[in-house]
Amino acid sequence: MESREQFSSKLGLVLAAAGSAVGLGNVWRFPTEVGSGGGAAFILVYLLCVALVGVPVMISEFIIGRHTHANAITAFSRLAPGRLWRLEGVASVFVAFIILSYYIVVSGWTLFYLVQSAVGRLAGQEDYVRMHTDFASHPWYPVFCTVAFMCLVHVIVARGIQSGIERFSKVLMPMLLLIISILVICSFSMPGASQGWRFLLHPDFSTLDTHVVLSAVGQAFYSLSLAMGCLCTYASYFTSDTRLVKTAFSVSLLDTLVAVLSVFIIFPAVFSLSAVEADSGPGLVFVTLPGVFDMAFGHLPLLEYLFSTLFYLLLSLAALTSAISLHESVTAYVLEAFRLPRRVATLLVTVSASLLGVGCTLSFGPMKSFTLFGKTLFELFDSVSSLVIMPLGGIVFCLFVGWVMERRVVFAEFTNGGRHAVRLFRIFLFLIRYVVPVAIGLIFINGIV
Ligand code: PHE
Repeated sequence: MESREQFSSKLGLVLAAAGSAVGLGNVWRFPTEVGSGGGAAFILVYLLCVALVGVPVMISEFIIGRHTHANAITAFSRLAPGRLWRLEGVASVFVAFIILSYYIVVSGWTLFYLVQSAVGRLAGQEDYVRMHTDFASHPWYPVFCTVAFMCLVHVIVARGIQSGIERFSKVLMPMLLLIISILVICSFSMPGASQGWRFLLHPDFSTLDTHVVLSAVGQAFYSLSLAMGCLCTYASYFTSDTRLVKTAFSVSLLDTLVAVLSVFIIFPAVFSLSAVEADSGPGLVFVTLPGVFDMAFGHLPLLEYLFSTLFYLLLSLAALTSAISLHESVTAYVLEAFRLPRRVATLLVTVSASLLGVGCTLSFGPMKSFTLFGKTLFELFDSVSSLVIMPLGGIVFCLFVGWVMERRVVFAEFTNGGRHAVRLFRIFLFLIRYVVPVAIGLIFINGIV
């Protein structure tokens, strides 16, 4: 087998995998979903989805990746040569590429808001809706931001696993956790915050229907970076003594913590102003929040400056570590399949994803009228990937590990050769063989008909 890089430390690999999971999905998408899904009830369903579906799927990905030490497509080919299963590998790398190309659009926006806030131009605007629409529909500002963000991702991925991904994750993730803690404290001290807590702590189950449950599953997949080959690729750089079950629990816990803390930052702030709706759609963090910052801290400009700059820094860092993993999922394939040097493979992915990303960026402006099935390119990529491809991919990963891979191999990977988590194995097998496929299948069928 060709010599491949590996993560050099346990902390490094947990932070890299958590970096993939913690992203715009936690700080931007989750609060929006909580807002439209009705608050506390949605959070509870989400937690269940993470525990019963997310963690088992994550362990399955880890098992495939660590056992084969290869990119997602090669991994399936090695384990089931000449069979259709390889298509799942192809689908996951392809969708990682698609997600990367729209992910960098929103990431570019965060970069813009970060700079605006840092130079003091965000506070005190008259109309944030206008500001956002003017920016997002501008023919080249957002294009520039998208490409600038992609360049950051490129520089890190091009340096490889240890001196690129691992090293940066070890710096960026602790920074992110520190910022989020500061923001939670600030947010708790806002006047009127208790109304936000009520929305987040008192479940109203009447808002739940199958569509909301499907959204929660989709969100769990999205947030945990599942079925995109990202975690499978990262696991291919794990060492033989990495404990897969423990790693999956740590990553899921960190990811869920950041998602929950994010809603506790955003909603008390939003509710401290009665004029603002909790369910404000994707504009929540780019339109509603700057206004909230203004009103909440208007009389304390320094605090407003710090809060909003830190918030957009948080968002940018989170986006960066996730985009890195999406990039790596595709790069690892290009690099290994075509035997290219890492620098060349990275560049190919960067250039092609940037081109598609520019297309998505323009779907907020000059290409707005270009729609498929009534959705712009951006909306189409977002909904198809999280509501359809990720859940279906999750089923395939589980069925593959549960029914196709040799049980002996799965056991050896799960327990590190019979040394850890032996008693959890049966539960895991039951979940991935029956519970996950049936649950996702049912929710899926109900959600789309
Ligand atoms: N988990 C990331 C987030 O929460 C998004 C992502 C999805 C990253 C799929 C990699 C793979 O933003």
